[in-house]
Amino acid sequence: MKHLLLIFGGHSGGRTEALTRAVVEGVGQAGDDIELRSKAALTTGAEDLLWAEGLLIGTPEHFGYMSGAVKDFFDRTFYPVEGRTEGLPYALYVSAGNDGSGTVASVERIATGYRWKPIAPALIVRGEVTDDALGRCRELGAAMAQGLALGIF
Ligand SMILES: Cc1cc2nc3c(=O)[nH]c(=O)nc-3n(C[C@H](O)[C@H](O)[C@H](O)COP(=O)(O)O)c2cc1C
Repeated sequence: MKHLLLIFGGHSGGRTEALTRAVVEGVGQAGDDIELRSKAALTTGAEDLLWAEGLLIGTPEHFGYMSGAVKDFFDRTFYPVEGRTEGLPYALYVSAGNDGSGTVASVERIATGYRWKPIAPALIVRGEVTDDALGRCRELGAAMAQGLALGIF
């Protein structure tokens, strides 16, 4: 079993949560070879990160940046895991009102600091959550899970 960690920010019942459900569905469609640990970023810590062989990050855009919860996760884990998660494959999805680019840039800069590698371009969903957006989230979850299961990342 490959270990996949999903962390998410955003308020309860919000758009990021809806996108996260679709990402989780996509992971589930990819077979039985993945153990998924899906947690709110605020309750996720260094031990979760050290357990993970792949990482999915979901966040809303707040003031041109990632949510405070996701930033807090990075703040708390960077030094405790330093040098021990290099090469971790990750993917990012963002729920934004009308932009999202600042969030992508800021998460990518931090991920580079951890020396993680993106498995796909960041997925930005702007505005309302449409069926098309949910479909793209399912695809992202499935791509991560399949790649991990097959050992191609
Ligand atoms: C405090 C706050 C700041 C926001 N700042 C931005 C922003 O800078 N750019 C943007 O495109 N949307 C911004 N938004 C809109 C949210 O990104 C958008 O509504 C998102 O879908 C919310 O996701 P959620 O329902 O999971 O919280 C902001 C929303 C809030 C509450």
